[in-house]
Amino acid sequence: MTRRSTGPLLCASIFLLMAISTSAHAADELPAIDKATAEKLSFRRDVWPIVKRHCWGCHSGSNPKGELRMDTVALMIKGGESGEMFEPGKPDESLLLDMIAGDEPSMPPKGPPLSAAKLQILRGWILTGAKDDSVAGGSQLAVRIPETYRFAPAVTSVAISPDGKLMAVACRSEVVLLDTAGKVASRRLPTECDLVTHVEFSPDGKLLAASGGSPSRYGEVRFFNPLDGKLISSRRDGSDTLFRGNFAPDGKSIALGATDGAVHIIPVDPKAPVRRLDLHSDWVFDVAYTPDGKQLVSGGRDKATKVSSVETGKLLRSIDNSTEMVTAVASDANFAVSGGRAKTLIGYEYKIALAGIQVTGSGNGARPVSRRNQYVKSFESQPGRIYDLATSGDRKFLAVAGGYGDVRIYQMTDRKRIALIPAVPTPVLAIALNRDGSRLAVGSSSGEVRLYSLPDGKQLRSVMPVPIAGEKQAAK
Ligand code: HEC
Repeated sequence: MTRRSTGPLLCASIFLLMAISTSAHAADELPAIDKATAEKLSFRRDVWPIVKRHCWGCHSGSNPKGELRMDTVALMIKGGESGEMFEPGKPDESLLLDMIAGDEPSMPPKGPPLSAAKLQILRGWILTGAKDDSVAGGSQLAVRIPETYRFAPAVTSVAISPDGKLMAVACRSEVVLLDTAGKVASRRLPTECDLVTHVEFSPDGKLLAASGGSPSRYGEVRFFNPLDGKLISSRRDGSDTLFRGNFAPDGKSIALGATDGAVHIIPVDPKAPVRRLDLHSDWVFDVAYTPDGKQLVSGGRDKATKVSSVETGKLLRSIDNSTEMVTAVASDANFAVSGGRAKTLIGYEYKIALAGIQVTGSGNGARPVSRRNQYVKSFESQPGRIYDLATSGDRKFLAVAGGYGDVRIYQMTDRKRIALIPAVPTPVLAIALNRDGSRLAVGSSSGEVRLYSLPDGKQLRSVMPVPIAGEKQAAK
């Protein structure tokens, strides 16, 4: 079964885009646009994704660059400091084309110029009258969940309920809740995230959390009842996408990484305040609790793996600095684990790493008594970049996957590999285990989700969770 992969998802500021090698935008494959094709161009479908990806980040909000806002067609035509950006029907006399075309285009100021195909789309759309098919002013910013997708969206996160009966799959702005036995029809749970980056069942299986957000706009967390798919609560947090994290062992809150360098602890109770733990100097990609809920391990773009106290919210110790960014962390009672672009999977023994460090008091200033080589317990190195780690609910097993074609399962106590699942659709962006480690879910950028039994590695199911145009049927 071959399927075309998705183009870049939505926004460059999502770490998955940094993690996966982005394939060319579908538009790059288009030949120069003829009149008939240009007539069919849609602002919402064809133009807006280009503007949003390449321009909107700087040309929006309360202080847009050059006083130019590009949220709507009207605002685009109106232009900024220099006045009108284009007149419908006359692309070649426009400030817009002048700024983005030619040998050394001045926009976008950073990063590569727009591809010829994208220029063709913008030019063709203006030439044929710059028709505005957005529903109401600015509503293209609203998240839209297609009935049927043109290309399979990458699976950005997966979760298995503790009893192994349900599987949750994050696809772009929605979460698909599947019965693992395939007997009950799947439910599609919408969010208002541009991208859902994390899904997880609470330790008692009674809640399903889905989080993510909209770049430069808001973070969002939703809690659902996994039995009927009903939304229990939804809240916005901060002004940017939230990354991955972990339910607190008591199930009352979820800790998530954020672009402000903090770990955000977001209570299930929508009225209880969010706690922000300022720990990193750059985006935090993943967070995991120790099983007693007392400590957090976190890792991110600053390449650091850190352990902090939940009670005080303070850093206990930066236990490691990688040569590359850390994309995933995990924990059991004895070890913190982190992995990332450096292809190394490392366990850190808490007892030694934190010896002599006061849990209360100035954690940042406390001087550790142990050196790195005394508490580092390496796993075998991985054949490629690591994108996700998952522990079983009982924390006995660790699953590891990334930009390579297999998923490896280890025993936490002795770091021995107990299973290797070969030939998974790569890159794998998301993996999950159930409570006792007997089920493994694997989500890939191809849009496919697979369910395996462990430790035998038998494939139980392969599912496309959302309907794709031309496909006969979606997942049951
Ligand atoms: C990294 C930020 C950034 C991005 C991304 C960006 N711009 Fe700009 N843009 C600026 C800044 C800064 C100015 C004002 C200074 C200047 O003209 O260089 C500007 C000015 C402009 C102007 C002139 C406004 C006026 O009236 O004087 C136009 C037109 C423009 N940008 C179009 C675009 C388009 C189209 C894109 C997407 C292809 C884009 N920009 C992407 C930062 C950005």
